[in-house]
Amino acid sequence: MKSCIIYDTKRENRAAEHFVRWMKKALEKAGAEVGIYRAADAETIDCDLFIIGSPIYYERPMKTVLDFIESHSEDLKGKPTAIFVICMAQLFGNPTKRHIERYYITPLVDRLPEKPVDIAVFKGWLRKTDRDQKEIAVNWIIELLGRVPWK
Ligand SMILES: Cc1cc2nc3c(=O)[nH]c(=O)nc-3n(C[C@H](O)[C@H](O)[C@H](O)COP(=O)(O)O)c2cc1C
Repeated sequence: MKSCIIYDTKRENRAAEHFVRWMKKALEKAGAEVGIYRAADAETIDCDLFIIGSPIYYERPMKTVLDFIESHSEDLKGKPTAIFVICMAQLFGNPTKRHIERYYITPLVDRLPEKPVDIAVFKGWLRKTDRDQKEIAVNWIIELLGRVPWK
């Protein structure tokens, strides 16, 4: 199975890139082939599983990631697609759940040609790498693989 992770970030080697690396390793360990693409660079992509994610800056997913979904509608049609966001609003507790769903997740999901197979909200960071997030990301990938048909 070929899986593709599409993401972007405004900050090199911070949370988004750690999450992508952790997910890549977990996918490879499970036997999947993995392609990594920056949303702005990606051309036509042929994959069996798409994992598309964005960090949240100033209350929005990145435009490059939103544009990727819109412009790759044909590639995504009929393919299992999972969405992830990386943000910090969840630190403020349960009341922010609806906010995250409405402003962070919905703009991504609404652009997909079909319903996503799963959605993850990961906790990002500003400076110091939060290594506790690795296990959360790896477990999500393993669960995700359990939901999609392997070829
Ligand atoms: C300039 C800036 C703006 C941010 N705005 C938000 C925000 O509106 N909501 C939120 O939940 N997190 C916000 N965050 C937290 C980021 O989502 C978090 O730091 C994440 O790790 C960013 O991804 P990166 O580490 O790959 O840059 C912001 C972070 C930065 C640096």
